[in-house]
Amino acid sequence: MTVMTVIHAPDPRLQVVSEAVGCVDDDVRRLADDLLETMYAEKGLGLSAIQVGIPRRIIVVDVARSDGALQPLKLVNPAVTGSSQERVEFDEGCLSFPELFALVERPASVDITYLDENGAGRELHADGLLARCLQHEIDHLDGILFVDHLSALRRRLILRKMIKWKKARLRDIA
Ligand code: NI
Repeated sequence: MTVMTVIHAPDPRLQVVSEAVGCVDDDVRRLADDLLETMYAEKGLGLSAIQVGIPRRIIVVDVARSDGALQPLKLVNPAVTGSSQERVEFDEGCLSFPELFALVERPASVDITYLDENGAGRELHADGLLARCLQHEIDHLDGILFVDHLSALRRRLILRKMIKWKKARLRDIA
């Protein structure tokens, strides 16, 4: 398995709408494994293929507690088919926005359909942190970032911080 490079915002690739996967083959399985490896290396709870520059509808999540056993989930062509009227706020982050968090309001629970790594159709009802992560990652597949759920002012503030962060990092590398 390979740890891939995560794209950091702002970057136009993060706004791309990803393509549905036609066939869950070895390439897709390998990519899902690499995404998981990358997500664990970066200490994230979820990651989408577009965040490593691959516009295919594949996401991985693992919301297990850090002291517990791993609970990796690989989802191909995931889609939200229903959501609760109840909405909750949560301090959300993203591997494409290192060290930045913001309160985002989303439905408390969701119903999801997806293909598993064998191409079998599956359904999942999720609430709590899992519902949060799945909605965040599925948004990525439509080119939507968590900052897009914030006010324009908040969004500009976070993007400005990211531009500063990227500049500082380029200086460190140089
Ligand atoms: Ni994200």
